[in-house]
Amino acid sequence: MILEIENITARQILDSRGNPTVETEVVLTDGTKAAASVPSGASTGTFEAVELRDKNKNEFSGKSVYKAVDNVNNIIAPNLIGADASNQREIDNTLLEMDGSFNKSILGANSILSVSLACARASAKALDIPLYKYLGGINACVLPTPMMNILNGGAHANNNLDFQEFMIAPVGAACFADALRAGSEIFHTLKNILNEKKLSTTVGDEGGFAPNLSSTEEAIELIIKAIETSGYSLKSIRICLDVAASELYEKGECQGGFCSLSKYRLKGIGKTFSSEEMIDYLEKLVQTYSIISIEDGLAEDDELGWRNLQERLGDTCQLVGDDLFVTNVERLQGGIQKKLANSILIKPNQIGTLSETLDTILMAQQNNFSTIISHRSGETEDTFIADLAVGVNAGLIKTGSLSRTDRICKYNRLLKIEEELGENAKYMGIRAFKALKNDEDISLC
Ligand code: PGA
Ligand code: ZN
Repeated sequence: MILEIENITARQILDSRGNPTVETEVVLTDGTKAAASVPSGASTGTFEAVELRDKNKNEFSGKSVYKAVDNVNNIIAPNLIGADASNQREIDNTLLEMDGSFNKSILGANSILSVSLACARASAKALDIPLYKYLGGINACVLPTPMMNILNGGAHANNNLDFQEFMIAPVGAACFADALRAGSEIFHTLKNILNEKKLSTTVGDEGGFAPNLSSTEEAIELIIKAIETSGYSLKSIRICLDVAASELYEKGECQGGFCSLSKYRLKGIGKTFSSEEMIDYLEKLVQTYSIISIEDGLAEDDELGWRNLQERLGDTCQLVGDDLFVTNVERLQGGIQKKLANSILIKPNQIGTLSETLDTILMAQQNNFSTIISHRSGETEDTFIADLAVGVNAGLIKTGSLSRTDRICKYNRLLKIEEELGENAKYMGIRAFKALKNDEDISLC
């Protein structure tokens, strides 16, 4: 059966920060219509595929995406009309050939991804199969353990926290719905605690609170208080960090035979660390607070540092490459060979097609890396990543805090998937963190 594409049209819409992004609708000859929209990052990695923006200062501060929309409507659409939307590999290969660049800078990863995802969604709809099942078949059954970003800093907030994300993972929950309940309760308890301390309860880009705090430690201790006050144990609710260290990194420069050292500048706490000192600092945090996951603990081009970090902490902590790997299969392969990390963040818009995203996930899973399907700080109401997480049995998802519909819509979609899978749904809890040698039986309280 061929699911023939009749038409493809794109439009400019706004994301959760009010910035323009691309939405594409695919229409099949049987009348099926489906759309997909793409998110946008704030702390983007240098090696990500290119997000095409018009850079016309007179419109949306240079952020409009009319060219990317035009590329879908006038370059991509004529080449894909008549093609089989369910032949994802062929669709994606055609998109890659049409672009021709190594980083999708010609057509833009935003235009390419919106088409790639909309084809998958239209096919699932035409076949009357839920998207997660279309992507993963009868084997799609794992509900991801959420890593919920309840306290925001770094590039996602205008406070003085150096680290970008302070997350909680309900590893002791019995199912996804219970995990979400725990997250929501702790989030609201944290709000009360901040209120009592006369700290701000306004939220950052991913829906987490963004109070002005004096240090990373203070942020973690407030979260611990919220967990305990809500009646949960520190074993069942664990803390995860995204340092987003590329944002803190100042690469050493060489001039006239003299080279300055690379360093991490933590402005919030007024300290400057070498790579080794940064690792010492992270190790201390892991030991003090039983942190189970650190994302981008070091910068994207501090390769030697990553190797040292993995050697020091790789057996006790999940070490996640976000800017380091940018969902790119070649960068991941290099990282596996050089033993740089033990986990990868998966953001489809870092690479630009669904097929390449699936290739990277497969390589990670075959090499015992944990996979975390992730949103971006600028999101839309599109819930594709929720279905993707279940479809590939990723085990983990990062889709923000317990407020704002751009975050919550993914959680709500997962609730429905769990309900639909019924007894066949599996929630992995702590076991999704593959790097941890931990098979203790943990329950929520
Ligand atoms: P970004 O942040 O979407 O702003 O890049 C998310 C992350 O770093 O994980
Ligand atoms: Zn990150």
